[in-house]
Amino acid sequence: MPRLRKTYLWLKTLLPESLRESLSFVNQRWFARKTLQRKYGSWFDVDWRKKFRSLSDEEWKKAYDEAWKNRNNDCVEETDAEMILKALGSRGSVLEVGAGIGTLAIRLGKEGFAVTGLDVSEEALGRAAERSFQEGVTIEWRQGFAEKIPFPDKAFDYVTCCHTLEHVRDLAQATSELKRVARKKIVILTPKQKYRLYAENYHTQFFERAEQLIDAFGLKQYECSEIDCLDHEHEFQGKAFLYVGRID
Ligand SMILES: C[S@@+](CC[C@H](N)C(=O)[O-])C[C@H]1O[C@@H](n2cnc3c(N)ncnc32)[C@H](O)[C@@H]1O
Repeated sequence: MPRLRKTYLWLKTLLPESLRESLSFVNQRWFARKTLQRKYGSWFDVDWRKKFRSLSDEEWKKAYDEAWKNRNNDCVEETDAEMILKALGSRGSVLEVGAGIGTLAIRLGKEGFAVTGLDVSEEALGRAAERSFQEGVTIEWRQGFAEKIPFPDKAFDYVTCCHTLEHVRDLAQATSELKRVARKKIVILTPKQKYRLYAENYHTQFFERAEQLIDAFGLKQYECSEIDCLDHEHEFQGKAFLYVGRID
């Protein structure tokens, strides 16, 4: 991350919350549209929240293919991967949903998990496959939606889904599918984010409190902690929730 942005983010943490929120509000009103189009192409704009429900599967896929032509990094970084590995525990099979360009899938593969990576974007999957090939890690890459996972019930020991649940069109359908294909645990990472301060991204779901995530899954055995990703290098710097749910 450029030094100037790092300093700006650090200075922001020193401000009182009300002032921080006002800055985000100004950003959303005046600068967000340009930033989004520069970062992700013309498919995404600040109206994404209004139009996403009316898009077809084909349009959804095209939007993310275009976005991935303009992006070079996943949000998940090494500190997250360490926490996820700890949460998973013993080795087994993993479905990584919304795998992006494969950072977490490849990391888990290197640790001895049998990994399948699923993403809606073929552009992302192509780059993920190239990376895993270069790193000598065998991963099965599949195109598909979190809301319609193309695998049978309980097909995997674990399901991971990082920085993706906030992108899905139908949250209830996606959580139900993630639970359906998992035998043991699901591990979810989402940004902690206020709907009204949404700005430089193309999110559809907003998790401001841990309870929203806990209720969305409705599992009896879970842990949900707030984590700090402010020192991340690439795409995401902020607070996030790490949810680990056990399949009953
Ligand atoms: C912000 S990226 C996160 C990628 C990666 N997991 C990471 O940590 O950076 C969101 C990913 O979700 C994918 N995606 C968007 N909607 C999806 C859906 N309904 N089902 C599956 N993947 C989806 C996008 O193509 C993109 O790769």
